[in-house]
Amino acid sequence: MDKFLSLSGRFREVPDSIARSLAAADANARSQLQSRFREAVQSLPSVQVSCRDYSGAEVTIGCPEDITDNQKQSIMSSLYAFQPWRKGPFRLFGIDIDAEWHSDFKWDRVLPMLPSLEGKILGDIGANNGYFVFRALHHRPAAVFALDPVPRFYYMFDLLNYFAGEENAAFGMLGWQSLFDLPAFFDVLFLMGIVYHHRSPLDVLDAVYAALKPGGVAIIESMGIPGNSGVALFPAGKYAGGSGMYFLPDSVTLQRWLKRSKFREIEPFYSAPLSTDEQRRTHWAPVDSLAEFLDPFDSSKTIEGYPAPWRHYFRVVK
Ligand SMILES: C[S@@+](CC[C@H](N)C(=O)[O-])C[C@H]1O[C@@H](n2cnc3c(N)ncnc32)[C@H](O)[C@@H]1O
Repeated sequence: MDKFLSLSGRFREVPDSIARSLAAADANARSQLQSRFREAVQSLPSVQVSCRDYSGAEVTIGCPEDITDNQKQSIMSSLYAFQPWRKGPFRLFGIDIDAEWHSDFKWDRVLPMLPSLEGKILGDIGANNGYFVFRALHHRPAAVFALDPVPRFYYMFDLLNYFAGEENAAFGMLGWQSLFDLPAFFDVLFLMGIVYHHRSPLDVLDAVYAALKPGGVAIIESMGIPGNSGVALFPAGKYAGGSGMYFLPDSVTLQRWLKRSKFREIEPFYSAPLSTDEQRRTHWAPVDSLAEFLDPFDSSKTIEGYPAPWRHYFRVVK
């Protein structure tokens, strides 16, 4: 948590509200409830890491020869504590972690739309375990801030960065709501897989707008539905097996939200059905996944009878 404060403090004085939120999150993470994750990180062996590579699909940290068999056992048991691994893939000391999501597919779509990241301040809102943070670090930004309020993901990132030792990246257990306390701070923001999980998508977009510098770029990616009629699906309960789903926009609706949130140069660059190649059950995520949540007789529908999920991607400028 101090890391987030000291790294952000290099660029701007950080308001007390952020420090207080981080302290509260820290206390929560230290609670009994999270002890399994904390112990998984605290029990990691001390290792001299000889290689790191974030340029390819697999975020690679450490070479197989950096660790002994005993150390490998200890690392494996910490990695298993975090199952299911939703985002990835990673390769740690030769251990391949194939996550439920091929997050590299998402990054490959986003990367050509980004400005040069060199020397920039980046933020990933709802960063999960930090997969995109590592991919972004390859492009030599000044700093990457991962924001996600969930302690499990804080500890996952902690585990990965314990070995990677990246000084220019920090994780803050903060939600998008904290972005209002960092006005005009970021050059580039990622808001991917977030808007449909919140009751008030326009408030989330306002927060992103507030935290971007004028001229800054944001990538907004959302689950949604097909079509161009300017509607959003509001499911009665679960959608494609997932809970905590609110407004699932078609592409036109998401574009309207972005316009109303004052963004300019709104550029849609990808809109397509989510595939079972991109989201699927794996050894590291032994869970029901997209294939199990689509209608077995009609893959254009979810098991609840709604249109099957699409993903919509936009690049916007403040
Ligand atoms: C569907 S995942 C998306 C992860 C990643 N951004 C991606 O595109 O694959 C949603 C993430 O939002 C996080 N989250 C939950 N509440 C949040 C909040 N208030 N602000 C930001 N992120 C939040 C969750 O912990 C989770 O990691």
